[in-house]
Amino acid sequence: MMTPDQIRSKYLEFFESKQHRVVPSSSVVPENDPTLLFTNAGMNQFKDVLLGLEKRDYLRATSVQKCIRAGGKHNDLDNVGKSDRHLTFFEMLGNWSFGEYYKVKAIEWAWEFLLEGLKLDPARLYVSVYLTDDEAFGIWENTIGLDPSRIVRLGKDDNFWSMGPTGPCGPCTEIYYDHHPERGDAAWEPGFDEVRFVEVWNLVFMESNQDETGEMTPLPLQSVDTGMGLDRIAAVMAGVDNVFKTGLFENILKRTHFLRTGEDIDVAAIYAMPEFASYCVVADHVRTSVFSVCDGAKFGNAGREYVLRRILRRAVRHGRELGFTEPFLCDVADAVIEDFQHVYPELRFKGDEAKTIIRNEEKHFLKTLDKGIQLFDVVAESTIDQSKKTIEGTDVFKLHDTFGFPPDLTEILARERSLEIDWTGYKAHMQQQKASSKKADARYTNVGEWEILQEGAADKYVGYDSLSATSDVLRFRDLGEGKVEICLRETPFYAESGGQVGDRGTIVSEDGMLELHVLDTKNTPAGITHTVEVRNGELSSSRLRKPVTATVDGKLQFLTACNHTATHLLHSALHKFVSERAFQAGSNVSAARLRFDFSFDEPVPQAKLEAIESWVNARIRENTKLKLHLNVRLEEAERMGAMMMFGEKYGEEVRVVEVPGVSTELCGGIHVSETNDIAYFRITSETGVAAGVRRIEAVTNASAFELAADERRRLTDIAQTLKVRPNLIEDRVARLIADNKELERKVTSLEATNANSAASDLASQIVDVDGISLIAAKVEVADRDGLLAMADSLRDALGETAVALLAAVVDGRPALLVMSTKAAFKNRGLKAGDLINDVASYVDGRGGGKPTLAQAGGKNAAGIPDALSAFEGAVRARLG
Ligand code: SER
Repeated sequence: MMTPDQIRSKYLEFFESKQHRVVPSSSVVPENDPTLLFTNAGMNQFKDVLLGLEKRDYLRATSVQKCIRAGGKHNDLDNVGKSDRHLTFFEMLGNWSFGEYYKVKAIEWAWEFLLEGLKLDPARLYVSVYLTDDEAFGIWENTIGLDPSRIVRLGKDDNFWSMGPTGPCGPCTEIYYDHHPERGDAAWEPGFDEVRFVEVWNLVFMESNQDETGEMTPLPLQSVDTGMGLDRIAAVMAGVDNVFKTGLFENILKRTHFLRTGEDIDVAAIYAMPEFASYCVVADHVRTSVFSVCDGAKFGNAGREYVLRRILRRAVRHGRELGFTEPFLCDVADAVIEDFQHVYPELRFKGDEAKTIIRNEEKHFLKTLDKGIQLFDVVAESTIDQSKKTIEGTDVFKLHDTFGFPPDLTEILARERSLEIDWTGYKAHMQQQKASSKKADARYTNVGEWEILQEGAADKYVGYDSLSATSDVLRFRDLGEGKVEICLRETPFYAESGGQVGDRGTIVSEDGMLELHVLDTKNTPAGITHTVEVRNGELSSSRLRKPVTATVDGKLQFLTACNHTATHLLHSALHKFVSERAFQAGSNVSAARLRFDFSFDEPVPQAKLEAIESWVNARIRENTKLKLHLNVRLEEAERMGAMMMFGEKYGEEVRVVEVPGVSTELCGGIHVSETNDIAYFRITSETGVAAGVRRIEAVTNASAFELAADERRRLTDIAQTLKVRPNLIEDRVARLIADNKELERKVTSLEATNANSAASDLASQIVDVDGISLIAAKVEVADRDGLLAMADSLRDALGETAVALLAAVVDGRPALLVMSTKAAFKNRGLKAGDLINDVASYVDGRGGGKPTLAQAGGKNAAGIPDALSAFEGAVRARLG
């Protein structure tokens, strides 16, 4: 069996041996294409090459591209979990010819790769061609020698490929794999069984460009664009007919199960579960969330952000089916990061941040869900009050649209109360909404309402020589909430790049009546773009038609420059003291601090950090003058030994920043003129950000001095509190720690004695409910940990099949704990998480947890006796 890793490399190696340039995947968030929600095909990054608008120094390319097909023209969202072969996120293997080889070679190589590279049995392969594409039909029949009964002609829907409503397109030929030859001969004709015969590879012959009106004009070049889903070919290679049963998902499915039950089981057992589809939805949607958030996408209410939000919510709902009531997708994300970071290093660098973003979004939605349940209760009550049996379609829609409350859940809740749903009314509302969101989609393709004052490219940066410049305004647009974006013909503002943040400052109109405060400067598809706020005066196009004066905040820029040059010194120091292989993996330099990520497997010891710090400070004191080398050819820069970022795209000519004798790096950023400008360098932290990546944060100049002063202040304070002189602090603290350990030991042993005797008191209250030992008791504990300790001690006394409810008042509030033994959960279906919610309402609380242990807090301690007496009934009800 070939693993997905092996397939990826085999594919790239095969096409590399056919003189294709291996090109890395682009981001799933398209950078320069407003017609796209997500990168949906390998060809997206080559769109302009295919259109003849851009030239590369290669005519053949191959890649493995991260793709998302959700929203937009290619949308597989609703199929995930229902079909065996649809995903929203997948990787696509592809090869391209830009106006060079065409149909013959494309088909020959595809066939060669499948038969010789992957050793597939040709008896299981079938193909389709476009209705009128006799040429492709002929190549399959005559050049490849395929029996014509294995070639089918299909129409536009199947065999004419376009990326979206506009853009390059053309006829295609597709290769199918027969997953079930044992089912006997099936005619290879339109309408074949797409579950048995799965399309694995699509070869597109790009010949036209489609415009907004649907009209097609021939392209200047005839190109080839092929795409093969890694998941589908991995299924073929693994001999399974479901993409979720491949190595791409094994770890993710198992992790989900582990989080659900605490058990590590064989993945085949998960495949066999009735709830397998929910596992699949979770797995796919977590992959989509992680990859898109790592590429900078966000959750939100419109366009791409809304699509992502819907994906995550769908995963949360399926998580509920699996019994998850707390955020968990963020933990499943760990498995995605583990499995894919060696192929996509952005997961290594951004994974942690992505997990936090996902967790927050989950939390937010869980709240929404709870609110939805309350709202449903109101709706249901009023339906019953009016002696009606059907919940109005408007209400179902409102719950869905406004509160993100899924209609299938509404139906389940309704059924519990013997109510029906008015599906006709609901569907009518959905239709209406679909029509209006189509309009919103169309708007999305319009980047924004720019007001154009003058034509031109806003790409001229003049800030290396001066902090101020007078320039024409080319265009601006209102972003709402008081923010405006503005582009100048030339600007002294440095736009965020290479880790250095964008400059801040002011832009003032010629008459001085309008003053704009520049909050940030970025490179965007519109050019160098300043985000501004009006500080004084009235913003109007007439005022901006005359040249403005743009001035960078020099003080902030100087502090940023200190941090930037210090970053270069730090980088050299890491090579010297830590490892020659401590490569830069990301950096962020602002006026306040610098942050530098680098590849290294273990924490850098404190002694080394100190050595690095003092080495950098020594270089600062040497007061070396920096040398800037402009317009250096890339080969020349390499010869100079300049450090560069691996995988970064550089132009033919680059800028090299040299601190003579210390560091030479390719860099477009702003630096100090001599090292002593930095004055002082202090490392503030060293942490791990992901497997194999460490992060150092540091400060320089004024911030470093402030840090030193602050440290001294704190030391003095501590000495005062401890009532010793500062030089005796260490001794005093060591003694305190030793004393404290001794005390802790005493407390723990006392607590254990207490818990044990309390537990044996409780054991006398065990009652038998249908073969289950049951306890419901109020106990005295100091805190929630005490409750857990009590439960632990009780476990032995209870026996194998048992449930217990312990209640206590902690800090004036009720705290409940339900435990269910493994046997009670497995053989009798008693989940602690269910039972806690059956009784939590008596104390005005809600709870959650694992099947064997769940806790709840509440507001009403007076309800504890009711909760205790309701417990036995709840258990009996659950037993049915
Ligand atoms: N662009 C085509 C597809 O996505 C072939 O790569 O199917």
